[in-house]
This record gives sequence, structure tokens and C-alpha cells, in this order.
Amino acid sequence: MNKETKSVLPFDVFSQEFKTNPYPVYAHLRDHAPVYRTELPDGQGMWLITRYADVMSVMKDNRFVKDIRNALTKEEFEQIPRKPEVLEQFSQNMLDLDVPDHTRLRTLVHKAFTPRYIDQLHDRIEQIIDELLDTMEGEEEVDLIHSFAYPLPITVIAELLGIPPEDKNQFRAWSDDLVAGSGVLDLDDSQLAISVALAEYFRKLFAIRRNEPQDDLISALVQVEEQGDRLNESELLAMAVLLLIAGHETTVNLLGNGMLTLFQHPEQMEKLKGDLSLIPGAVEEMLRFSSPVEMATPRFTSEAVELNGTIIPRGEMVMLVLASANRDPEQFPNPEIMQIDRQENRHLAFGMGIHFCLGSPLARLEGQMAFTALLKRFPNLQLKVPVEELIWRSNLVLRGLEKLPVVLTDNMYKGL
Ligand code: HEM
Repeated sequence: MNKETKSVLPFDVFSQEFKTNPYPVYAHLRDHAPVYRTELPDGQGMWLITRYADVMSVMKDNRFVKDIRNALTKEEFEQIPRKPEVLEQFSQNMLDLDVPDHTRLRTLVHKAFTPRYIDQLHDRIEQIIDELLDTMEGEEEVDLIHSFAYPLPITVIAELLGIPPEDKNQFRAWSDDLVAGSGVLDLDDSQLAISVALAEYFRKLFAIRRNEPQDDLISALVQVEEQGDRLNESELLAMAVLLLIAGHETTVNLLGNGMLTLFQHPEQMEKLKGDLSLIPGAVEEMLRFSSPVEMATPRFTSEAVELNGTIIPRGEMVMLVLASANRDPEQFPNPEIMQIDRQENRHLAFGMGIHFCLGSPLARLEGQMAFTALLKRFPNLQLKVPVEELIWRSNLVLRGLEKLPVVLTDNMYKGL
């Protein structure tokens, strides 16, 4: 093992140190072990794929499946301990399934997330943003995650689904607890209890919408379920949970990580404030440079696959490290430099292939509108604490901050 290797290996993917800056480890893996096997704390093997070209090719390769049943023989599958029923139901969602179920489920909701449909939400999103900024006005400092980055996407997705506004905060607490560990580790007892509560909540809401349909996505899906052959009840539940969680746990990190990135690159911040028409490109660069989804959700090899000279046996769990692919110098010139007007920015922050993010038009719209409004209203926004004091959430798949304390004004008259 050379000196450079010793300094970055081994690493703990859940540690604060790693979450704060995983990029040196990824640079090392890309150079020395682009197809790297490590283990989770529970002993489960996990392959990390870190080069852009490899991540791209795996995303398009149907030998890598999402549903573990398609990677194991029936006998092997039966030897795995069964998950509690509620989790079996939650896993009937498009992100955890393969063709043809994936296609059937995605087709049902695809239309509601096309750019054309999402653009109709523009005025309502603007209103939500303005209300949040109004509440911040008058404060000297706020936690930007708590006051802005979190409430915006959860309000939008909750309204789109048709969750009553008064239940939004309950959801936020549930979802927060649920994503800790993020799908690859077994849930603890309290997470299991939350899953049961979430399932019960949704079942009640389905019944209410069945009797009195509204103009929302849950009402539309309940009607599809009633027709019988395209969506069963577990799938309906799984769809609602996926959309709710994917719809806000990710965008919060785009807003939080993106803002932090601007604080860390003051010259880029000034450039952006000077010309807000650069915002769409800046959001793409934030997605690349500080990817909100660090790794795609698990895939499994349905046969032994050779990747970059390494053989991954059948039935292994494979994680595509999007944050690393997005900093691969083979794809991006000067990848470690944040450039809001970067040309040719084909990042993989939303994935690729059949599971390409369904919500990307919504995430982009929310991101662009949020940064525009925030920089207009609070042009003197500053980070309140040294970067080293920021705490990152302990999560394998997502990368985001617990809190982002900011000062809203220069407060130049204070003390006069
Ligand atoms: C900045 C915000 C977001 C990022 C970075 C992001 C990222 C991703 C990524 C990387 C995937 C693919 C995962 C994989 O292949 O394993 C994905 C899938 C998905 N995303 Fe997003 N997402 C964001 C926002 C949203 C929003 C707002 C929604 C709204 C509902 C959403 C819904 C989904 C769904 C349903 C899938 C599964 C698609 C499928 O399996 O066909 N996402 N997202």
C-alpha cells in the first residue's frame, strides 16, 4: 500500500469526516480502484463504482437490476430473512423494480412530472417561496435548512400529492427519521414503527380521496387503483411514499449544498448576483459540484459482470457514486473548480437510463426559482459559522447538511 493510499483508506462512509469531504477518497478510487469492494457495518458487501464512464455504462446495462429477486435464484432468495410486511410493500415502487413493472408504474405518473405540467406550478411555487422569505425578513440570522431549504420542497410535493397542509410537519419528521441509513441498512425499531404509521396515514388518506376525489395526484392514483389491473394497493402505497421522500429529501440538499458552494466561492457568488440570468447554469453546476444524491440507490448483478477489468460476481450490491462521476477529470475539465457558467455540463446528478429522475423538471424549477428569489431578497447573505463547524447528515445515498446558519443582512446600523 503506498503512502497516498494509506491516507485515504480505509474510510467510513457514514463518518462525519467522510461526509464533510468525500472527494479525496473518490479521486483516489477513480485512479487506483474504480471498481472497489468494501463492506457496510453489518458486513454486507458493497461495490463502489467511481468513474464517469463506468457509472454511465452500468446505468444503461440491464444486467444490473434493482429488484434483488432478479439477481438471485429462488432458493437463494428464500434464504434471505424476510422484511417486515410494511417494508415489503414500500419496496413495490418503481425505483426498486425492473422492467416490466417499472415501466408500468412510471407510465402511470410520468405525465404529472413533465416540464409542461410542472411549469404550471410556477406561480404557486413563487408564492410559497415569497411566504418563506417574508417570514425570514426581520430576522438577523436563520438556519437556512430549517427556514427555507426544507419547507419549500416538502410543501410543493405535499400539495402536488394532496396531503393536507396541517400534516406536512408530521411527514417531515417521519421522513427525516426514515431516510437515516437510507435503504441499505436494516431499519431499527423506531424506523419500523414510523413506516407502519406512515402506511396507516396514507391508507386513511386513500379512503378519504376515494370517497371525495380532489384535483391532486393521490386522487388520480386511487382511481387508477380502483380500475384494478394497473396498480394494486401495495403499489399505490409504495408510489406515494417514494414520491413524498424523493420529492423533498433530495431538493433540500440541492438548496443547502448549492448555497454552501456559493459561500465557499465568493467570486462565483458575486458573478451570479451581478447577472441572475446565469442561475439555470449555476444550478446545474451546483448539482455537479456538490451532488445532492451522492450515490444512486443499490443495484444488483444478475450475472457475473466484468467492469474495467474487475469481475463482480452475481448477486452483489453495486453503488454508483454520482458525486465521484461528476468530478471525473476524464469527463469534466478542471472538475474541482466550481464554474457557474461551465459549458458541456453533462452531470449525472439525476442519474441516467430508465430510472433517470422523474422529478428533475420539478427539482430544477424549484432550485432556479429559490436561488433567484433568495439572492434578490437577501443579497448580503453570509455564512454565520466556519465551514468546519457544519454538520453533515449521516446517510449513505444522500449528502446534505443538518443546518446552514446564515446571517441575512450586513446589519450595518447595529450598535448605532
Ligand atoms: C435535486 C433534486 C433531486 C435529485 C438530485 C434527484 C436525483 C435522483 C436520482 C439520482 C435518481 C436515480 C436513482 C437511481 O438510479 O438509483 C432519481 C430517481 C427518482 N427521482 Fe429524483 N432527484 C431529485 C428530485 C426529485 C423530485 C423533486 C422528485 C419528485 C417526485 C423525484 C422523484 C424521483 C423518482 C420517482 C425517481 C425514480 C425514477 C425511476 O425509478 O424510474 N426526484 N432521482
